Amino acid sequence: GRVVALIPAAGMGTRLGLPVPKAFVMLRERTLLQRSVSAALASGVVDQVVVIVPADLAAQIDAEYADRPEVTVTVGGAERSDSVRAGLAASGPDTELVLVHDAARALTPPALFADVVHALRDGARAVIPGLPVADTLKRVDTAETVLATPDRSELRAVGTPQGFTAELLRHAHSGGGDATDDAGLVEALGVPVQVVPGDPLAFKITTPFDLRMARLLLDES
Ligand code: CTP
Ligand code: MG
Repeated sequence: GRVVALIPAAGMGTRLGLPVPKAFVMLRERTLLQRSVSAALASGVVDQVVVIVPADLAAQIDAEYADRPEVTVTVGGAERSDSVRAGLAASGPDTELVLVHDAARALTPPALFADVVHALRDGARAVIPGLPVADTLKRVDTAETVLATPDRSELRAVGTPQGFTAELLRHAHSGGGDATDDAGLVEALGVPVQVVPGDPLAFKITTPFDLRMARLLLDES
């Protein structure tokens, strides 16, 4: 069956604070989005990429990928989950597996896409990459008073690509609702979500510090 990678790139990048939407910021000669599309295709496990962009950039990005039949461009929405739903609507009815991957995770190694798809092929219906957390985490109240220290060994920092059977992800998104993490909607259905080992290079470029880190990592390679 077909594997489709949805790449939400329709956010404004408010926390990064540059004049251009985050997915269109350059990292060396290529934008974050271009890097994420290349990684998905280089994985060898993705048949179609659906790129989800801001409305005012759709014509330009569509033209950029005009000679790539495996790349489709569609317009996103106000919240990330609206953008994922737009991507689902643009995926063919013959889609068997869907990966959702933040354009902002621009240094994600292609092998991570393959790892997620392999776990789905092994029978999981929802797969997310996760890493152990290095810092001690505290639960706090609105006054920043510590309420609890969760046991770090039970916690994972999760990212993307997140993989699902197409049927499950469509069902999870059918009720609308917002979630920064698609797996959260699947959990709400009571369906098990499997964590596979993540990769630190799949970190999300969110702040100016993250962009500096990404540029330094590229300088090093
Ligand atoms: N995204 C999207 N549609 C939205 C919001 C986010 O497609 N309405 C995408 C972003 O482009 C990004 C990914 O979802 O690739 C993860 O979101 P985030 O890191 O929060 O990016 P932004 O929303 O752009 O950043 P910020 O929250 O700082 O504005
Ligand atoms: Mg955001």
